[in-house]
Amino acid sequence: MSSTDEPTLRPGGVATLAGRPVARIGFGAMQLPGPGVLGPPRSRENALAVLRRAVELGANHIDTAQFYGPDVANELIHAALHPYPDDLVLVSKVGADRDSSGTWIAAQRPEDLRAGVEANLRSLDVERVDVMNLRLHARGADDDGSHVDLDSQLAEMVALRDEGKVGAVGISSVTIDQLRQALRVGLACVQNEYSVLDRSGEPMLELCAEHDIAWVPYFPLGSAFPGMPKVTESPAVIAAAAELGATPAQVGLAWLLAHDPRILLIPGTSSLDHLIENMATADVHLGAETIAVLDGLAAFNR
Ligand SMILES: NC(=O)c1ccc[n+]([C@@H]2O[C@H](COP(=O)([O-])OP(=O)(O)OC[C@H]3O[C@@H](n4cnc5c(N)ncnc54)[C@H](OP(=O)(O)O)[C@@H]3O)[C@@H](O)[C@H]2O)c1
Repeated sequence: MSSTDEPTLRPGGVATLAGRPVARIGFGAMQLPGPGVLGPPRSRENALAVLRRAVELGANHIDTAQFYGPDVANELIHAALHPYPDDLVLVSKVGADRDSSGTWIAAQRPEDLRAGVEANLRSLDVERVDVMNLRLHARGADDDGSHVDLDSQLAEMVALRDEGKVGAVGISSVTIDQLRQALRVGLACVQNEYSVLDRSGEPMLELCAEHDIAWVPYFPLGSAFPGMPKVTESPAVIAAAAELGATPAQVGLAWLLAHDPRILLIPGTSSLDHLIENMATADVHLGAETIAVLDGLAAFNR
Protein backbone atom coordinates (compact mmCIF):
# COMPACT_ATOMS: atom_id res chain seq x y z
CA MET A 1 0.00 0.00 0.00
CA SER A 2 1.49 3.32 -0.94
CA SER A 3 1.38 6.12 1.58
CA THR A 4 -1.10 7.99 -0.63
CA ASP A 5 -3.60 5.39 0.60
CA GLU A 6 -2.97 6.42 4.20
CA PRO A 7 -4.26 9.98 4.35
CA THR A 8 -4.48 10.01 8.13
CA LEU A 9 -0.67 9.83 8.30
CA ARG A 10 -0.31 13.08 6.41
CA PRO A 11 0.39 16.04 8.72
CA GLY A 12 -2.45 18.55 8.59
CA GLY A 13 -4.58 16.17 6.53
CA VAL A 14 -4.62 15.78 2.77
CA ALA A 15 -5.36 18.33 0.07
CA THR A 16 -4.92 18.27 -3.68
CA LEU A 17 -2.09 19.96 -5.53
CA ALA A 18 -1.95 19.56 -9.30
CA GLY A 19 -4.28 16.59 -8.99
CA ARG A 20 -1.98 14.86 -6.49
CA PRO A 21 -2.77 14.21 -2.82
CA VAL A 22 -0.42 16.17 -0.58
CA ALA A 23 -0.13 16.71 3.15
CA ARG A 24 -1.29 20.19 4.09
CA ILE A 25 1.97 20.60 6.00
CA GLY A 26 4.84 20.41 3.55
CA PHE A 27 8.37 21.74 3.61
CA GLY A 28 10.12 24.78 2.12
CA ALA A 29 13.78 24.22 1.24
CA MET A 30 14.92 27.85 1.18
CA GLN A 31 16.50 27.73 4.64
CA LEU A 32 18.73 24.75 3.80
CA PRO A 33 21.58 26.57 1.98
CA GLY A 34 23.93 28.84 3.90
CA PRO A 35 23.02 32.21 5.44
CA GLY A 36 21.28 34.57 3.01
CA VAL A 37 20.26 31.51 0.96
CA LEU A 38 23.82 31.47 -0.35
CA GLY A 39 26.33 28.68 -0.56
CA PRO A 40 26.42 25.33 1.21
CA PRO A 41 24.67 24.68 4.52
CA ARG A 42 26.58 25.04 7.77
CA SER A 43 26.13 21.26 8.16
CA ARG A 44 25.38 19.15 5.10
CA GLU A 45 24.53 16.16 7.30
CA ASN A 46 21.97 18.23 9.20
CA ALA A 47 20.39 19.55 5.98
CA LEU A 48 20.07 16.02 4.59
CA ALA A 49 18.62 14.82 7.91
CA VAL A 50 16.00 17.61 7.89
CA LEU A 51 14.85 16.63 4.40
CA ARG A 52 14.69 12.92 5.23
CA ARG A 53 12.87 13.54 8.50
CA ALA A 54 10.33 15.80 6.75
CA VAL A 55 9.42 12.92 4.45
CA GLU A 56 9.42 10.39 7.30
CA LEU A 57 6.97 12.63 9.14
CA GLY A 58 4.61 12.54 6.16
CA ALA A 59 5.47 15.72 4.25
CA ASN A 60 5.16 14.96 0.53
CA HIS A 61 5.13 18.51 -0.84
CA ILE A 62 8.59 20.07 -1.01
CA ASP A 63 9.14 23.56 -2.36
CA THR A 64 12.51 24.49 -3.83
CA ALA A 65 14.30 26.56 -6.48
CA GLN A 66 17.47 26.23 -8.51
CA PHE A 67 18.39 29.71 -7.28
CA TYR A 68 18.39 28.67 -3.60
CA GLY A 69 22.12 28.56 -3.01
CA PRO A 70 22.15 28.87 -6.03
CA ASP A 71 22.32 25.20 -7.03
CA VAL A 72 22.37 24.07 -3.37
CA ALA A 73 18.79 23.25 -2.28
CA ASN A 74 18.07 21.04 -5.31
CA GLU A 75 21.36 19.18 -4.91
CA LEU A 76 20.53 18.51 -1.24
CA ILE A 77 17.02 17.28 -2.14
CA HIS A 78 18.52 14.92 -4.70
CA ALA A 79 21.19 13.67 -2.28
CA ALA A 80 18.69 13.15 0.54
CA LEU A 81 15.70 11.74 -1.26
CA HIS A 82 16.54 10.28 -4.68
CA PRO A 83 15.12 7.90 -5.81
CA TYR A 84 12.05 9.85 -4.80
CA PRO A 85 8.99 8.24 -3.25
CA ASP A 86 6.20 7.93 -5.85
CA ASP A 87 3.94 10.18 -3.83
CA LEU A 88 6.41 13.05 -3.43
CA VAL A 89 5.35 16.28 -5.14
CA LEU A 90 8.32 18.49 -5.96
CA VAL A 91 7.54 22.13 -6.64
CA SER A 92 10.11 24.55 -7.99
CA LYS A 93 10.12 28.00 -9.51
CA VAL A 94 11.62 29.90 -12.41
CA GLY A 95 11.83 33.58 -13.20
CA ALA A 96 14.71 34.54 -10.91
CA ASP A 97 18.42 34.05 -10.60
CA ARG A 98 21.33 35.24 -8.48
CA ASP A 99 24.16 37.45 -9.70
CA SER A 100 27.79 36.91 -8.69
CA SER A 101 27.22 38.79 -5.42
CA GLY A 102 24.14 36.71 -4.59
CA THR A 103 21.66 39.50 -5.31
CA TRP A 104 18.26 38.22 -6.46
CA ILE A 105 17.72 39.18 -10.10
CA ALA A 106 14.88 38.66 -12.55
CA ALA A 107 15.20 36.02 -15.28
CA GLN A 108 11.84 36.36 -17.00
CA ARG A 109 12.55 36.04 -20.71
CA PRO A 110 11.06 32.90 -22.22
CA GLU A 111 14.57 31.53 -22.82
CA ASP A 112 15.42 32.20 -19.15
CA LEU A 113 12.32 30.33 -18.02
CA ARG A 114 13.17 27.38 -20.26
CA ALA A 115 16.78 27.33 -19.06
CA GLY A 116 15.50 27.44 -15.47
CA VAL A 117 13.25 24.45 -16.04
CA GLU A 118 16.07 22.51 -17.71
CA ALA A 119 18.39 23.28 -14.78
CA ASN A 120 15.77 21.94 -12.33
CA LEU A 121 15.31 18.78 -14.41
CA ARG A 122 19.05 18.14 -14.32
CA SER A 123 19.70 18.92 -10.66
CA LEU A 124 16.64 17.11 -9.33
CA ASP A 125 17.24 14.29 -11.84
CA VAL A 126 13.62 14.03 -12.95
CA GLU A 127 11.99 13.92 -16.38
CA ARG A 128 9.30 16.33 -15.24
CA VAL A 129 9.01 18.71 -12.29
CA ASP A 130 5.57 18.18 -10.75
CA VAL A 131 4.72 21.87 -10.40
CA MET A 132 6.68 24.87 -11.64
CA ASN A 133 5.87 28.33 -10.35
CA LEU A 134 6.43 31.33 -12.55
CA ARG A 135 8.00 33.71 -10.06
CA LEU A 136 7.28 37.32 -11.02
CA HIS A 137 9.27 40.41 -10.11
CA ALA A 138 6.78 43.19 -10.41
CA ARG A 139 6.30 44.19 -6.80
CA GLY A 140 9.65 45.05 -5.28
CA ALA A 141 12.95 46.79 -5.69
CA ASP A 142 14.18 43.91 -7.84
CA ASP A 143 11.70 44.77 -10.60
CA ASP A 144 13.76 44.58 -13.73
CA GLY A 145 11.60 42.00 -15.47
CA SER A 146 8.77 44.33 -16.41
CA HIS A 147 10.02 44.51 -19.99
CA VAL A 148 8.92 40.90 -20.45
CA ASP A 149 5.17 40.91 -20.81
CA LEU A 150 3.28 38.40 -18.71
CA ASP A 151 1.58 36.76 -21.69
CA SER A 152 4.96 35.80 -23.19
CA GLN A 153 6.02 34.30 -19.87
CA LEU A 154 2.77 32.38 -19.50
CA ALA A 155 2.98 31.12 -23.09
CA GLU A 156 6.43 29.67 -22.39
CA MET A 157 5.19 28.00 -19.17
CA VAL A 158 2.31 26.44 -21.10
CA ALA A 159 4.73 25.25 -23.81
CA LEU A 160 6.91 23.64 -21.12
CA ARG A 161 3.82 21.97 -19.67
CA ASP A 162 2.69 20.78 -23.12
CA GLU A 163 6.15 19.29 -23.66
CA GLY A 164 5.82 17.39 -20.38
CA LYS A 165 8.78 19.09 -18.71
CA VAL A 166 6.53 20.45 -15.97
CA GLY A 167 3.42 18.73 -14.68
CA ALA A 168 1.51 21.86 -13.76
CA VAL A 169 2.02 25.62 -13.68
CA GLY A 170 1.75 27.88 -10.66
CA ILE A 171 2.46 31.56 -10.20
CA SER A 172 4.26 33.45 -7.47
CA SER A 173 4.79 36.99 -6.17
CA VAL A 174 1.80 38.02 -8.21
CA THR A 175 -0.61 40.95 -8.03
CA ILE A 176 -4.33 40.40 -8.29
CA ASP A 177 -4.43 41.79 -11.83
CA GLN A 178 -1.60 39.48 -12.89
CA LEU A 179 -3.38 36.59 -11.22
CA ARG A 180 -6.59 37.34 -13.16
CA GLN A 181 -4.53 37.44 -16.35
CA ALA A 182 -2.85 34.12 -15.53
CA LEU A 183 -6.02 32.22 -14.61
CA ARG A 184 -6.69 31.35 -18.23
CA VAL A 185 -3.70 29.00 -18.44
CA GLY A 186 -5.05 26.79 -15.63
CA LEU A 187 -3.04 27.28 -12.45
CA ALA A 188 -2.27 24.61 -9.85
CA CYS A 189 -1.25 27.05 -7.13
CA VAL A 190 -0.40 30.59 -6.17
CA GLN A 191 2.61 31.22 -3.96
CA ASN A 192 2.61 34.64 -2.33
CA GLU A 193 3.72 36.21 0.92
CA TYR A 194 1.02 35.65 3.54
CA SER A 195 0.75 34.94 7.25
CA VAL A 196 -1.32 35.75 10.31
CA LEU A 197 0.59 39.06 10.39
CA ASP A 198 0.39 39.83 6.67
CA ARG A 199 -2.97 39.32 5.06
CA SER A 200 -2.48 41.72 2.17
CA GLY A 201 -3.00 38.72 -0.13
CA GLU A 202 -6.51 38.02 1.19
CA PRO A 203 -8.35 39.10 -2.01
CA MET A 204 -6.09 36.79 -4.00
CA LEU A 205 -6.76 33.92 -1.63
CA GLU A 206 -10.48 34.53 -2.20
CA LEU A 207 -9.95 34.45 -5.96
CA CYS A 208 -8.01 31.18 -5.58
CA ALA A 209 -10.86 29.76 -3.52
CA GLU A 210 -13.34 30.67 -6.28
CA HIS A 211 -11.20 28.83 -8.81
CA ASP A 212 -10.20 25.97 -6.48
CA ILE A 213 -6.50 26.81 -6.74
CA ALA A 214 -4.11 25.96 -3.89
CA TRP A 215 -2.82 28.99 -1.94
CA VAL A 216 0.72 28.31 -0.73
CA PRO A 217 1.93 31.12 1.49
CA TYR A 218 5.60 31.94 1.58
CA PHE A 219 7.01 33.64 4.67
CA PRO A 220 4.30 31.89 6.74
CA LEU A 221 6.34 32.66 9.86
CA GLY A 222 7.59 36.04 8.70
CA SER A 223 10.72 34.69 6.95
CA ALA A 224 14.37 34.52 8.01
CA PHE A 225 15.10 37.94 6.49
CA PRO A 226 15.76 40.70 9.01
CA GLY A 227 13.32 43.60 9.27
CA MET A 228 10.19 41.58 8.64
CA PRO A 229 7.68 41.05 11.48
CA LYS A 230 8.14 37.57 12.95
CA VAL A 231 5.03 35.57 13.77
CA THR A 232 6.85 33.96 16.70
CA GLU A 233 7.45 37.41 18.24
CA SER A 234 3.85 38.59 18.12
CA PRO A 235 2.54 39.06 21.70
CA ALA A 236 -0.94 37.81 20.74
CA VAL A 237 0.52 34.70 19.10
CA ILE A 238 2.77 34.08 22.12
CA ALA A 239 -0.22 34.46 24.49
CA ALA A 240 -2.35 32.07 22.44
CA ALA A 241 0.50 29.55 22.41
CA ALA A 242 0.90 29.71 26.18
CA GLU A 243 -2.81 29.15 26.66
CA LEU A 244 -2.83 26.13 24.34
CA GLY A 245 0.43 24.58 25.49
CA ALA A 246 1.71 24.97 21.93
CA THR A 247 4.59 27.01 20.49
CA PRO A 248 4.16 30.40 18.77
CA ALA A 249 5.24 28.92 15.42
CA GLN A 250 2.59 26.22 15.76
CA VAL A 251 -0.07 28.83 16.49
CA GLY A 252 0.91 30.86 13.41
CA LEU A 253 0.83 27.76 11.23
CA ALA A 254 -2.37 26.40 12.82
CA TRP A 255 -4.09 29.71 12.07
CA LEU A 256 -3.19 29.27 8.39
CA LEU A 257 -4.51 25.70 8.35
CA ALA A 258 -7.75 26.80 9.97
CA HIS A 259 -8.19 29.89 7.80
CA ASP A 260 -8.90 28.20 4.48
CA PRO A 261 -8.81 24.57 3.34
CA ARG A 262 -6.93 25.55 0.18
CA ILE A 263 -3.93 26.76 2.18
CA LEU A 264 -0.92 24.43 1.93
CA LEU A 265 2.01 25.07 4.25
CA ILE A 266 5.68 25.07 3.28
CA PRO A 267 7.41 26.48 6.38
CA GLY A 268 11.16 26.71 5.95
CA THR A 269 13.67 25.55 8.53
CA SER A 270 17.21 24.29 8.79
CA SER A 271 16.53 22.92 12.28
CA LEU A 272 15.40 19.36 13.01
CA ASP A 273 13.69 20.52 16.20
CA HIS A 274 11.78 23.25 14.37
CA LEU A 275 10.83 20.81 11.63
CA ILE A 276 9.36 18.37 14.16
CA GLU A 277 7.57 21.25 15.90
CA ASN A 278 6.14 22.54 12.62
CA MET A 279 4.90 19.10 11.58
CA ALA A 280 3.22 18.66 14.97
CA THR A 281 1.10 21.74 14.21
CA ALA A 282 -1.38 19.18 12.92
CA ASP A 283 -2.22 18.42 16.56
CA VAL A 284 -2.85 22.07 17.51
CA HIS A 285 -6.50 23.09 17.35
CA LEU A 286 -7.42 26.73 17.74
CA GLY A 287 -10.75 27.56 19.31
CA ALA A 288 -13.12 30.13 17.82
CA GLU A 289 -12.12 32.79 20.34
CA THR A 290 -8.42 32.39 19.62
CA ILE A 291 -9.07 32.50 15.90
CA ALA A 292 -11.08 35.71 16.33
CA VAL A 293 -8.17 37.34 18.19
CA LEU A 294 -5.66 36.19 15.57
CA ASP A 295 -7.97 37.27 12.74
CA GLY A 296 -7.77 40.79 14.11
CA LEU A 297 -3.98 40.97 14.07
CA ALA A 298 -3.57 41.90 10.44
CA ALA A 299 -6.69 44.01 10.08
CA PHE A 300 -4.47 46.93 9.12
CA ASN A 301 -3.17 45.36 5.93
CA ARG A 302 -6.16 43.50 4.60
N1 LIG B 1 7.88 32.03 -4.29
C1 LIG B 1 8.76 32.81 -3.69
O1 LIG B 1 9.16 33.84 -4.21
C2 LIG B 1 9.25 32.42 -2.32
C3 LIG B 1 9.87 33.38 -1.52
C4 LIG B 1 10.29 33.01 -0.27
C5 LIG B 1 10.13 31.72 0.18
N2 LIG B 1 9.52 30.78 -0.61
C6 LIG B 1 9.31 29.40 -0.12
O2 LIG B 1 8.52 29.47 1.05
C7 LIG B 1 9.16 28.75 2.09
C8 LIG B 1 8.80 29.38 3.44
O3 LIG B 1 9.30 30.70 3.51
P1 LIG B 1 10.64 31.05 4.33
O4 LIG B 1 11.40 29.81 4.64
O5 LIG B 1 11.34 32.12 3.58
O6 LIG B 1 10.09 31.71 5.63
P2 LIG B 1 9.25 31.19 6.89
O7 LIG B 1 8.86 29.78 6.72
O8 LIG B 1 8.24 32.22 7.18
O9 LIG B 1 10.31 31.34 8.06
C9 LIG B 1 11.56 30.72 8.08
C10 LIG B 1 12.22 31.25 9.34
O10 LIG B 1 11.47 30.80 10.48
C11 LIG B 1 12.32 30.07 11.33
N3 LIG B 1 11.54 28.95 11.87
C12 LIG B 1 11.02 27.90 11.21
N4 LIG B 1 10.34 27.09 12.05
C13 LIG B 1 10.42 27.67 13.27
C14 LIG B 1 9.93 27.33 14.55
N5 LIG B 1 9.21 26.21 14.74
N6 LIG B 1 10.19 28.16 15.60
C15 LIG B 1 10.91 29.28 15.41
N7 LIG B 1 11.41 29.67 14.23
C16 LIG B 1 11.17 28.86 13.16
C17 LIG B 1 13.47 29.60 10.48
O11 LIG B 1 14.63 29.48 11.27
P3 LIG B 1 15.35 28.04 11.51
O12 LIG B 1 15.98 27.65 10.22
O13 LIG B 1 16.30 28.33 12.61
O14 LIG B 1 14.25 27.11 11.93
C18 LIG B 1 13.62 30.76 9.50
O15 LIG B 1 14.38 31.79 10.10
C19 LIG B 1 10.64 28.83 1.74
O16 LIG B 1 11.41 27.86 2.44
C20 LIG B 1 10.59 28.66 0.25
O17 LIG B 1 10.51 27.29 -0.08
C21 LIG B 1 9.07 31.12 -1.85
